[in-house]
Amino acid sequence: MAAHGQSTVAAILVAAGSGLRLHAPVPKAFVEVDGRTLLDRAAQAFTDHADIGPVVVVAPASHVAEARRLTGSCVVSGGATRQASDAAGLPAAPADAEFVIVHDVARPFVPPEVIHAVVAALRDGADAVVPVLPMNDTVRRVGADGALAGVVDRSQLVRVQTPQGFRRTVLVEAHRCGVGTEATDDAALVEALGVEVVAVSGDEEAFKITTPWDVACAEALAKVIRSAATPIPLGGEPKR
Ligand code: C5P
Repeated sequence: MAAHGQSTVAAILVAAGSGLRLHAPVPKAFVEVDGRTLLDRAAQAFTDHADIGPVVVVAPASHVAEARRLTGSCVVSGGATRQASDAAGLPAAPADAEFVIVHDVARPFVPPEVIHAVVAALRDGADAVVPVLPMNDTVRRVGADGALAGVVDRSQLVRVQTPQGFRRTVLVEAHRCGVGTEATDDAALVEALGVEVVAVSGDEEAFKITTPWDVACAEALAKVIRSAATPIPLGGEPKR
């Protein structure tokens, strides 16, 4: 919970995607990594965070009860697109929350430092904040015929992650004006209003789980995190 006297920051966790590219038998948020669902992991990152107040989860209609059981949070049913799911979550964020941060549950390993950096930038006066990372690969344009059509200057590009933070009134207005458009994130909707979007440092651990390869990486990362958190018993290293 936020320190006494500080304005409230609500979190909306969008978890209503089907995860088609994962070929899993359950919606992506309910896929398990090292024994815990993505939703359980992402929700804990926010409910345990000192900067975050109320948490709203947006789940597939078929999994609302399961999401409530897993998180103990307010859960609403999502829409056909990420934008629609986020719009469904917004009214459930308390009206007295000055800021709202929106996070993809598909990024369950977001470090607490990234959440803090987003909230700190909002408290410093930004209306919209996104975590970003540099491009590491060479990037090329592809023509309509599929042929490669030149290298793009990657020094002018970044990869955008979540959580993305907003003054709540700005995000509400962006969604009101954005009806009928389809944006892949909230910052794009807000930017369309002419609002400046501020960047903070993202983190590779906040990567988005999209494909079976990402799940394999997530399994490895989860095991590293779990073994780092396992206390070494008095008397030496644990037996293998
Ligand atoms: O599909 P993708 O991985 O890009 O989705 C990003 C996030 O948006 C995921 O956490 C997913 O659950 C969520 N989402 C949603 N409702 C949709 C589509 C995606 O809540 N209809």
